[in-house]
Amino acid sequence: MAFDLEQAYLDLVQTAIGGGLCNPPDLPFSKQELLRARALTRRVRSIFAPEVRALKKNQLALSEPALTTLRGLLLDFQAEDVARLLRINSPVGHTLLGQEALTSLRNCARQAIWLRVPGDFMECGTWRGGACILLRAIQNALGVGSRRRTWVADSFQGLPQPDQLVDAVLHAYLKETGSFSVSLEEVRQNFARYGLLDEGVCFLPGWFADTLPSWQGQLALLRLDGDWYESTYTALEHLYDKVSWGGFIIIDDYNPVIGAYAAVNDFRAARSITDPLVQVDHQIHFWRKLPPHI
Ligand SMILES: C[S@@+](CC[C@H](N)C(=O)[O-])C[C@H]1O[C@@H](n2cnc3c(N)ncnc32)[C@H](O)[C@@H]1O
Repeated sequence: MAFDLEQAYLDLVQTAIGGGLCNPPDLPFSKQELLRARALTRRVRSIFAPEVRALKKNQLALSEPALTTLRGLLLDFQAEDVARLLRINSPVGHTLLGQEALTSLRNCARQAIWLRVPGDFMECGTWRGGACILLRAIQNALGVGSRRRTWVADSFQGLPQPDQLVDAVLHAYLKETGSFSVSLEEVRQNFARYGLLDEGVCFLPGWFADTLPSWQGQLALLRLDGDWYESTYTALEHLYDKVSWGGFIIIDDYNPVIGAYAAVNDFRAARSITDPLVQVDHQIHFWRKLPPHI
């Protein structure tokens, strides 16, 4: 069988952005990490003391998935759970996506190109930029880099303060890690390290509510990874109509644990979208935007 250079190149980029070339051993938590985790748990519980009381008395009027999440975050979280969360911002890779999720992203991107779905690729919520780096590598490897762009949309100052209770509690923990804040310069440098900082990579720095409403263009693939309800709904509201028929909408956080899940459900209901959701892993789902007659 002939050696498939394109596949080998993309395998290598995928492994590298996932941190697979230099994964440190999964060390047990140190005493200091656990102490820090316990202190943070106490702090978060005191910030949300009224909600903790209401939760214990079953007095919070929220959906069952939201209540389950809140019970986990405010009542049941152990020091190890919080310590794990505190490590979330410090892996060596350039993306938080696992290899299964990256393989699925790659398949969606290749299909969009092979099926000639018109438009660029965009990720809203990019952290260190890894998923967009892979998308740009795919465009270039498949010979469409001069016709399709990769858009990198992020505040480049981390997650905003959310307005939903579940998101706000999780944010109280994540703030301790910097809320996924990575500067635009660092993300540009990450692209450059892979030799992929070319004119086809476009950055949209700022809050989605400020940058997305005026964005002009067409998308073949839209990946949403902004975690919160408002971030996800805003992106769908302003970009969904710019996704071509046959295009892919990938939701990173389609899991009741955070607001993105409710935002997607609300948006799909508001727009009567029934295109089937495909499950990738315990949280990532995508759908293809099918024309009405199919
Ligand atoms: C979980 S991280 C994204 C992870 C990334 N997709 C990856 O491949 O690892 C969430 C990102 O969303 C961004 N974000 C969330 N809400 C936003 C908003 N409303 N406007 C701009 N950026 C936002 C944060 O700055 C952060 O970089």
